[in-house]
Amino acid sequence: MEAIQIQNLTKSFKAIQAVRGIDLSIRQGEIFSLLGPNGAGKSTTISMVSGLLTPDSGDALIFGRSIRKETIQAQMQVGVVPQEIAIYADLSARQNLMFWGRMAGLSGKLLSRRVDEVLELVELTDRQRGDSGKFSGGMKRRLNIAIALLHQPALIILDEPTVGIDPQSRRKILDSVKVLRDQGTTILYTTHYMEEAQELSDRIAIMDEGRIIACGTQAELVQRVGEQDHIVLKVAEAKESDLAQMAKSLNGSILTLKDEQTIEVLAHKGREVLPVLFTACNQTGVKVTAVEIQEANLEMVFLQLTGKALRD
Ligand SMILES: Nc1ncnc2c1ncn2[C@@H]1O[C@H](COP(=O)(O)OP(=O)(O)OP(=O)(O)O)[C@@H](O)[C@H]1O
Ligand SMILES: [Mg+2]
Repeated sequence: MEAIQIQNLTKSFKAIQAVRGIDLSIRQGEIFSLLGPNGAGKSTTISMVSGLLTPDSGDALIFGRSIRKETIQAQMQVGVVPQEIAIYADLSARQNLMFWGRMAGLSGKLLSRRVDEVLELVELTDRQRGDSGKFSGGMKRRLNIAIALLHQPALIILDEPTVGIDPQSRRKILDSVKVLRDQGTTILYTTHYMEEAQELSDRIAIMDEGRIIACGTQAELVQRVGEQDHIVLKVAEAKESDLAQMAKSLNGSILTLKDEQTIEVLAHKGREVLPVLFTACNQTGVKVTAVEIQEANLEMVFLQLTGKALRD
């Protein structure tokens, strides 16, 4: 069973078609990123999936439970961290967590144990006392995440949790997301930061103007648009004449000599080219000391698919 099965979800706000009939499945135990620019429809999708907004059509099944027909059962399995922060500023981090934990039905020893655990995970143990209203944006965001984790949901949805916060908090959030995944939690993560999607995700859907325009692993996405791989070969020594020789067996690839110790290669399906490249080096008498493949990134994929930059 999928953690989330999104079926033809659609939502308009008057003339604005925010979400135009999307289908997605998020597997159990994966970090799945929804990557897209401002206004793509990410938050609208998240709101529908978490039962906060009624779709015009379509449905989302959370571990098999329809968010429209079995709202409570579906919601119980999800922890949602919305884009807007929702904490009580005049309560401490611990008091906030105790309050939200009771709202989630926890009490007694279990409640205080969970509060300790989530504080630890988001690294706020040292700051659990004192008004949370005085927290930095990043700390507030981490408290918000801790709140969503209290009832140990099997699925966590985070909507752009790192926007506008300090680098340390950002690092801590990304690390906690990975820890959660390693503990078996499924993560749906929205972002407009390509680097975050690349670092975190098992799979990524690229969203733009209310549609999913591509979905897969990073490697699949990059492959699909036929981007070229960039291979950097460190060699003992190479000359232009060596490259001319090598180029004969490397049809369709571009070889350049950056300096005497560095050959740069642009190739389609770089991993398949590698053996041919090594053979060519051997035959030419060029000794390879190191190799690095720099794959095309998601920014390029987005650019290819939409004709515009990811960060408008
Ligand atoms: N409650 C609303 N009323 C009217 N229009 C809305 C509402 N919510 C969203 N929209 C519109 O729907 C579109 C998608 O918005 P949404 O917030 O889902 O995008 P997003 O991908 O989350 O963007 P961001 O990265 O800026 O958060 C936008 O054009 C937005 O203005
Ligand atoms: Mg949003």
